[in-house]
Formats: sequence, C-alpha cells, structure tokens
Amino acid sequence: MAPHITDTPWNVTPLTERLGIHYPIIQGALGGFDTRPLAATVSDFGGLGSFGALGLAPDAIKAVIADIRALTSKPFAINLWVSTQDEGAFESGPEAFARSLRPLTPYVEELGGAPPAFKAFDGVSFEAQARVLLDAKVPVFSFIFGIPPREILNECRKQGIVTVGGATTPEEASALEQAGVDAIVASGFEAGGHRGSFLRPSEESLFGTFSLLPQIVDRVSIPVIAAGGIADSRGAAAALALGASAVQIGTAFLGSEQGGAAPVHRELILQGKAGRTALSTGFTGRLARAVQNQLFELVSSNEMVVLPYPLQRALVKNLTTLAEKAGRPELMQLWAGQSASLSRYPDARAFLDQLVADLALIAPAISVWSKAMRRGQS
Ligand SMILES: Cc1cc2nc3c(=O)[nH]c(=O)nc-3n(C[C@H](O)[C@H](O)[C@H](O)COP(=O)(O)O)c2cc1C
Repeated sequence: MAPHITDTPWNVTPLTERLGIHYPIIQGALGGFDTRPLAATVSDFGGLGSFGALGLAPDAIKAVIADIRALTSKPFAINLWVSTQDEGAFESGPEAFARSLRPLTPYVEELGGAPPAFKAFDGVSFEAQARVLLDAKVPVFSFIFGIPPREILNECRKQGIVTVGGATTPEEASALEQAGVDAIVASGFEAGGHRGSFLRPSEESLFGTFSLLPQIVDRVSIPVIAAGGIADSRGAAAALALGASAVQIGTAFLGSEQGGAAPVHRELILQGKAGRTALSTGFTGRLARAVQNQLFELVSSNEMVVLPYPLQRALVKNLTTLAEKAGRPELMQLWAGQSASLSRYPDARAFLDQLVADLALIAPAISVWSKAMRRGQS
C-alpha cells in the first residue's frame, strides 16, 4: 500500500509552529562569542538565531537585544545560565588564585603578557539578567544549568515568551517539563562547549545524542530539539527520524564568518584540524568540550588546581587572549564539538541553503514515516 502522504510540509513541526519560524533549525547559543550577525542571519533565513549572554551585565544584554532587533524582525533567542557560579567562588582567595596561576605563568610571560592580578569575585545575578529578557519581551528565552524560579517562568508565559531548557539526561528533561518549560534541548555530549547538567554532576550525565534524544522524546510531550554532533543534513535527518522537532547546531556555525570566533579558531574548524576534542573542567571550572591541544593538556593536568566556576574561566581567558593575539592556537581555548571536522562553510547563509536543500530530499519521507510509526505505537 502506498504510504499515507500528509499535508504537513516537512519543515513544519510542533516547535516551528510554537516559535513562528519556517525551518526546524536552531543556531545554538555560543556563549562568549559575539553572534549578533549570526543570530540575525539564521533568524532572517527562517531558523532561530541565538545569543549566549551568560556572563553579561544586564545593561549589556539590553544593548545586545536592541542590536539584534535592529538586524532582524524575526524571532530569536537569548540564552542564560541559571546557575552562574559554583560553590566557593565568593570565598576563593589570593592564595588559591596564585596556586592556579602558577602553571600558566611561563606561557603568559613567553607571550609577553602580564599575569592577571587577583580580584575578589562579585558575581552576576541570573535574576537581574532574566529581568532584562522579560522587560524586553524577547521572543525566546533559552537556558541551561538549571530551571529558572517559578515566578520567572510564569512571567514568561504571561508575556508570550517561549522558554527552552537544556537537558543532558532524561531525568532533567522530565524536571523541565514538570516546571512548565515549553521545549527541551536534548544535549548530547558530542556538543562543543559546556555540559549544562543540573540534577547530577556533569561527569555522571554523559549521554550521546542518539541515545538521549529518543529517550527524551518518549518521556515528554513537549517539543524536543536535538543538539550535539549535528553538522550537516545527514545528522539533521537522523535527528528528525529520532523524533526531534528541530535540530540545534553550534560548532558548524562557529566556523562561519558571522559567528564571532577568532580567525585562527574558524580556520581550524573549517580545515578539519579540530577533530580531536575532549571534555575538561580545566578551562572554566565546569565540564566542557574543546580541542585537545597543548593548553587543554596543561589545564587538565595534575599541575592545575581548578578554581570554582567562573574564576577558572577568567584565569585561563587571560592566557588565551594573549595566545589569540600572537596567533598561537596551541595555547588557546578552542571550543569545538566532536563533529567539527564536518564543518565546511565559511558563510552561515550558504550553509543553511545547502542544509535545507539537502533536507528537502529526505525530510518529507522521514516526516511521513515518523507519523506512521507514531500511529503504529498508539
Ligand atoms: C563555543 C560554544 C559556546 C556555547 N555556549 C552555550 C551557551 O552559553 N548556552 C547554551 O545553552 N549552549 C551553549 N553551547 C551549546 C550550543 O548552543 C549547541 O547546543 C551545541 O554547540 C550543539 O552541538 P555541536 O557543537 O556539536 O553543534 C555552546 C557551544 C559552543 C561550541
């Protein structure tokens, strides 16, 4: 019997309808990078662009939102970290700072820089950051490392702000759904950047995307976005077949000229030289995936006593900024996911054009097939 052909085009999913976007393609937040042009490019194309505002002060976030709105009239997401510091950050003193700086000092000096001075941590408040998102009525508020307080989620609902929470385990997905979040990012450990775990330590929450995604899809009734290791139409099609309502891509966009990464970082990704990545807490104090270069080995070694997040981040940033200026990628913190070598496109728009053209060949069949599967299960 001929397959039942549905009237719904492949690109229309519960999530695209909820967000008011044309394609189920999300540019994941790339915290620490200026992705204003990238976010606008992806949103203008019909996907969802994002901006990672994790360490920014409220005024700076306000300015970013205004800039993105000046660049695109389409929906976009602003992303925050619910948990902004680890235990001990406020108490950590100059001795601990000096001890953690010691292994980095020879490299800072070699690059002609001055080692950073100790500065007591004064923190950044998630609530104050979130206030800006609420006041600005951003279209989408995405977050990782926890669940925002109930009052914030309630206010999002009242303002019509769509909330999207990151999950690294099936249990985290259930917790997000129970809290009333609108959609979930199933974030596999192939992904570049941080593991945003919040129920158990990140080291105990290491699911691969293809295991995590269908488990979350089976567990929750809200749309699920697949993230981690997706860098072309093959990965995107596979994720859609596993029940994703959209795919979220980070590393492949980091290779684009709109993504805000340093030229040396982009080149590494685009030339297939970012193939060896691993997870470490040594760059920031929290577990994150980056290229396994000389700096990775140093900050992950026994020589380094890692400071609580975000103190370690500031410490390593000093060296990596110097290394970037000197064109020394082996001493830079180079975020990348496991599929970095699949990234080919220096232009985000060209990447999206190709992705959609390729998906249009296979995604309609996946859409028909997955609807038939769901009917079979019910
Ligand atoms: C450099 C970098 C920074 C990231 N920062 C954030 C962030 O601040 N918040 C967030 O939710 N996800 C963040 N991510 C995750 C991405 O949004 C996305 O989910 C992930 O990159 C998808 O996997 P991929 O790297 O294999 O494409 C970051 C990823 C990278 C590579």
